[in-house]
Amino acid sequence: MEKILVVGSAGQIGSELILTLRNIYGNDNVIGTGRKTAPSQAVLDSGPFEFFNAVNRDDLYNVCKKYDINVIINMAAILSGTGEQNPMLAWDVNMNGLLNVLEIAREMKMKQVLVPSSIAVFGPGTPLDKAPQETVLKPTTMYGLTKVAGELLCDYYVNKYGLDVRGLRYPGIISHETLPGGGTTDYAVAIYYEAIKNKKYTCFVKEDTRLPMMYMPDCIKATIDLMQADFSKLKHHSDFNLGAMSFNVKELADSIKKRIPEFEISYEPDFRQAIADSWPNDVDDTAAREEWGWKPDYDLEAMTEDMLKNIQIKHDKGLI
Ligand code: SER
Repeated sequence: MEKILVVGSAGQIGSELILTLRNIYGNDNVIGTGRKTAPSQAVLDSGPFEFFNAVNRDDLYNVCKKYDINVIINMAAILSGTGEQNPMLAWDVNMNGLLNVLEIAREMKMKQVLVPSSIAVFGPGTPLDKAPQETVLKPTTMYGLTKVAGELLCDYYVNKYGLDVRGLRYPGIISHETLPGGGTTDYAVAIYYEAIKNKKYTCFVKEDTRLPMMYMPDCIKATIDLMQADFSKLKHHSDFNLGAMSFNVKELADSIKKRIPEFEISYEPDFRQAIADSWPNDVDDTAAREEWGWKPDYDLEAMTEDMLKNIQIKHDKGLI
């Protein structure tokens, strides 16, 4: 039976992933953790939660022992924007936290570890269109650099120790439950909130900035599908490209304007423009499709419809 630790379950993805995992594996079998951000009430109410910093090896080890953990999902990371403002923190959380996860999983002979990677592994030299699975990985951000090193480290544990480690390169993730924190792709979430609240948004990247993106239900589906995939069928392990949709900011704004005609967008690019420009427009995810049957459900229009509906509900309830 799985006893799953979701490191970073107060974050944008972790806060939703943990609830889905609790539905599948049972509330008491999925333990949430957070560093300092308070988790949602739904996460607190539905099962165990522990506050600690995974960079502290003893704390991580003690929680794994306490709950007899045999699967760790490491969602804790400092993203690209915050990482450029505090590179040492990004290195510490993203590398030392990961190393603790892998070492403890190896020592305790765990069943599985899942560690997300990101489109941030790409950089100059990567083809901008349909970035291949195997390609140049020379990121310019500390976040991207830790994700490349992380992928290699995870594959090292597969090859050297036979540990079942899996990972996928998330595109920008768009959702309406928990806000993202400190990423370059955060504009694609903020734009929806501002469209509902103020009918206007000032974007920190230019209108022709095109990036790979994904709606949260697809992100959760991909993560759980990869967890449940037959390990013997996987040729890749820690670095699956994962695609769903690709759009530039103008196309995103236009999809909102179709539903909120008075919505206005303006542009004030900041340091995140250079980060966005270093990432590809879209990715080739053939390996994920072939090795574990990946197929996304949402395109831009379906996502916009659902995002605006759900954020309007939050707004009507006075929650935002
Ligand atoms: N959403 C992340 C970021 O923008 C990319 O993985 O940093």
